Amino acid sequence: MIDVMKMFKARMYMKRNEPFLYSWHAYVGYELDLFKAFERPVTQFDVADALQLDEELLKQWVSVGVSIGHLKEAGRNRYKTWNTWKLPKPKGQNSSGVLLKEMMELHIPTLLSYPEMMREGKRRHFDEEKHAPTVAETSRLLEVLALPKMAKQLKEKKGGNVLDLGCGEAGYIKKLAERFPTTHFTGIEISPTVTETARSLTADIDNVTIENADLWKYTPETPQDLILMNNVIHYIDLEQRQQLFHQLAGWLKEDGVLSVVTPIAGSSDSPPFANVFNSFFSSFDNLYRLPTAEELAEWGAEAGLAMLGIHTVIKEGSWYIVQYQKES
Ligand SMILES: C[S@@+](CC[C@H](N)C(=O)[O-])C[C@H]1O[C@@H](n2cnc3c(N)ncnc32)[C@H](O)[C@@H]1O
Repeated sequence: MIDVMKMFKARMYMKRNEPFLYSWHAYVGYELDLFKAFERPVTQFDVADALQLDEELLKQWVSVGVSIGHLKEAGRNRYKTWNTWKLPKPKGQNSSGVLLKEMMELHIPTLLSYPEMMREGKRRHFDEEKHAPTVAETSRLLEVLALPKMAKQLKEKKGGNVLDLGCGEAGYIKKLAERFPTTHFTGIEISPTVTETARSLTADIDNVTIENADLWKYTPETPQDLILMNNVIHYIDLEQRQQLFHQLAGWLKEDGVLSVVTPIAGSSDSPPFANVFNSFFSSFDNLYRLPTAEELAEWGAEAGLAMLGIHTVIKEGSWYIVQYQKES
């Protein structure tokens, strides 16, 4: 009986891990641009030769691809990419593959080092300059969902100033600045590489300034109508979060709005992904756990910011947009 149970559980673990194969296969294809290479029917030999890749490993990757439907046999030893709609677009084309890259190169290796970290009581150090470009690009996948709530705060406004702290590639700023040409937008970004990307993506828009600065060392010259802080709270030490809210409230005009995007975790009904985010962030000595809903309410109230609302951005990731208005 015990042996049967053992076998049953082992089978269950394997079955549960099957979705990983799809992600792994898509990640390798994205990273090496293989789905493009197999766009038309082609042999493995030709692809290995053209891209200078190990032919045996490529062959095995192709076999997995055929078995999970990412590739299809096309006769005469040739294969072609199949079910393209499920696969990431090539690099640089605003591809969802960047999420696979972040998961496979950053999240999963970190989570796998959990036993070692727990035994040794050591944290890793998050190499901001190395990962900032990927992380800034993956955050952009949320833009389409979160943007309307930000635009709503500007709808009636003419002129005025908007500040985006930790603006990443300035995706929100770019879209809002085009829509509200009389408002001035300033993005603050700590990573020099990401700042450069943000500058080049907004170069042709007059009402945008991108500054390479640490939000702790920056002070705006004029009071702000709207302050955005999207996917940045986990970079802020727990002890400094209340202080940051006070600081931002001080930068707002009367009736100005603070708009924050963040996953929320920490309650028993938080979805698994939000809890795993916390495992991931806690693995680094310079990243910190996500806020709870209670903390977000408390920091606002203490800083004289009335909560306007909390809205879901992505349910599975427990992502929310929280907006506050400075009390007059
Ligand atoms: C996860 S990304 C989010 C980018 C963008 N706000 C978005 O939601 O798409 C966080 C960004 O904040 C930047 N950042 C982190 N700490 C910062 C600080 N102290 N001052 C300014 N930027 C910071 C990081 O370099 C990174 O580009």
